[in-house]
Amino acid sequence: MKRLSLFLGVFFLLFGYAFSAQMGKFKYSDFKKPKRCGICHKQIYNEWKQSLMAKSFVHAWDDVEYFKLALPHALKFEKVAGVKAGCIGCHSPLAFLSGDIPPKSPKAGTRANEGVSCEVCHNITGTTEKVPYNFSYVIKPGKVKQAPRKNIKAPHKVMYSSFLRSPELCGTCHDEASPYGAWVKETYREWKNGPYSKQGVRCQDCHMYHGPGKAARGRFHKDMAHHNFHGAHFESKLAGAVDLALYANKSKAVPGGVVKIVAQLFNGKVGHYIPSGSTEERMLWLEVWAIDATGKKWHIPVDKKGFKGEEYTIANSKVFAYQAMGEIMGIKNFKGVKRDGDVPDGARIFRRPFFDPKGRMTICQWYTKSNTLVDYRIGPRETKVETYTWRVPKDAKAPITIKATLYYSLVPSSVGKFLGLPKSEYKPMVVNTASLVLK
Ligand code: HEC
Ligand code: HEC
Ligand code: HEC
Ligand code: HEC
Ligand code: HEC
Repeated sequence: MKRLSLFLGVFFLLFGYAFSAQMGKFKYSDFKKPKRCGICHKQIYNEWKQSLMAKSFVHAWDDVEYFKLALPHALKFEKVAGVKAGCIGCHSPLAFLSGDIPPKSPKAGTRANEGVSCEVCHNITGTTEKVPYNFSYVIKPGKVKQAPRKNIKAPHKVMYSSFLRSPELCGTCHDEASPYGAWVKETYREWKNGPYSKQGVRCQDCHMYHGPGKAARGRFHKDMAHHNFHGAHFESKLAGAVDLALYANKSKAVPGGVVKIVAQLFNGKVGHYIPSGSTEERMLWLEVWAIDATGKKWHIPVDKKGFKGEEYTIANSKVFAYQAMGEIMGIKNFKGVKRDGDVPDGARIFRRPFFDPKGRMTICQWYTKSNTLVDYRIGPRETKVETYTWRVPKDAKAPITIKATLYYSLVPSSVGKFLGLPKSEYKPMVVNTASLVLK
């Protein structure tokens, strides 16, 4: 029995991408369009519409990654064939459930474009897994909507659901195992193992704020669940997510002398690691610059700590990566693009590198064989301390300002430019800043 379940477990990890859920069991017409719900749930509809949930199939980077990379790869390489349907299981559940695989491109305007719609979450009744991942939701379309409140009177049937209110709902899509069995998304698991789950602070509490709102026409609640789902695409959500404190061992800068600078970074706002989610392409990095009285600038490199895999966490403009993109697109002798985009040499990068079966760093999470070499992200309520040893240049004129800026980017700029993504997908966003003056 034990061997059988082990066998099934391995089988699921290898092939689960294609067979785990209710693919093709339904029709688009079994699900109502979000606009229909929006007739009465106007405010919630408007909030949802602006979130990435409503754009999970149509927004530029998803469109490019699926149609230019993942789908062509799935069609020519058996090992990753499952992602043809797998990506869609999370990014366009209605297409997946209707067996519309692969869906037409967003330009065609089919119902695949609805993304993670009202009818997805409000018809999910549970998960097939003990610990959810890989679109393992169980869905029951029909008249009954899964509801967070008891004893609600509505013009349609509602049923109270503790699953809807649980982070496990989110975990069905926010954790992902690659066809090689690597955990390539584990926001739910990070949360579960962290301090917030123990205190009962759910995903819904931070991503669906509860406050005054009209839940439906004529129905006001002082604690309505807002459907913002703001994450790393919203600068306001990133702002201040990590505290930044800066100290120096001296108050004066003597040209030719050495100053030791310490930066402390505290993740006090994020319920999981930062970055999380699409970790393969996310970077959080700290730039420390010295600016003298004449405006002359020097970038100060971080002191090395000497841990395993540290070289992946220090920006180096000479290193190229992501060669698999060229391989999939059929570009001969593709050398890759800059691993760290435009991050200045020597800056500390808080990230978790993913590697393909050929050992090259990759942004193709479905083609990831391992990602356990090094994980230098900042955990929930974790503090990381970075030090800088700076020899003040002979020509520097006091006073000198030391300025630290913590940046975040969704995609390395080198990858964004190579694939022709809109700049908004890879521009650096400021998480925090701190400065001090050496007289
Ligand atoms: C004709 C108007 C109307 C339409 C259309 C409508 N609803 Fe509702 N719905 C309501 C009202 C009114 C309530 C009760 C809200 C309250 O009292 O908080 C409600 C309640 C709900 C609840 C339970 C809320 C809770 O607090 O537990 C959910 C979930 C829900 N609707 C989802 C949907 C979805 C999904 C759709 C589209 C498929 C939809 N509704 C379409 C009017 C409507
Ligand atoms: C049916 C699958 C599915 C479920 C269930 C789901 N999500 Fe998501 N979520 C997605 C997908 C797909 C994206 C990526 C959208 C994109 O970037 O294209 C996403 C993105 C997000 C983002 C990032 C938005 C940003 O601005 O960067 C947040 C935050 C989020 N979801 C929170 C939640 C929470 C909280 C829950 C549970 C209440 C949840 N999700 C349930 C599929 C799902
Ligand atoms: C990613 C999943 C997800 C999507 C998409 C989603 N909802 Fe919800 N919705 C939830 C969750 C989870 C709650 C309960 C939040 C909580 O537990 O605090 C909720 C709560 C509600 C409520 C009750 C609000 C209250 O506090 O009284 C209504 C009504 C509702 N949703 C309607 C909709 C409509 C209409 C849409 C589409 C425009 C939609 N939802 C899209 C997950 C979702
Ligand atoms: C204590 C508040 C808190 C809790 C709890 C929380 N989050 Fe977040 N989450 C944040 C903040 C703040 C950000 C923005 C910073 C960032 O991107 O990491 C964020 C970002 C995200 C992102 C974007 C990550 C990225 O870097 O692309 C996703 C996806 C997400 N959350 C999903 C979830 C899910 C799913 C859960 C529950 C398992 C959850 N969050 C629990 C606060 C929270
Ligand atoms: C288990 C569910 C799941 C599967 C399977 C999945 N995704 Fe995602 N995807 C998500 C979630 C959730 C996010 C949001 C994470 C975040 O915000 O960091 C996301 C984010 C993304 C993003 C980043 C969007 C952005 O704006 O930064 C791209 C691109 C993407 N997915 C493409 C794909 C492709 C292509 C596949 C198939 C190879 C795939 N996804 C498979 C759930 C999934």
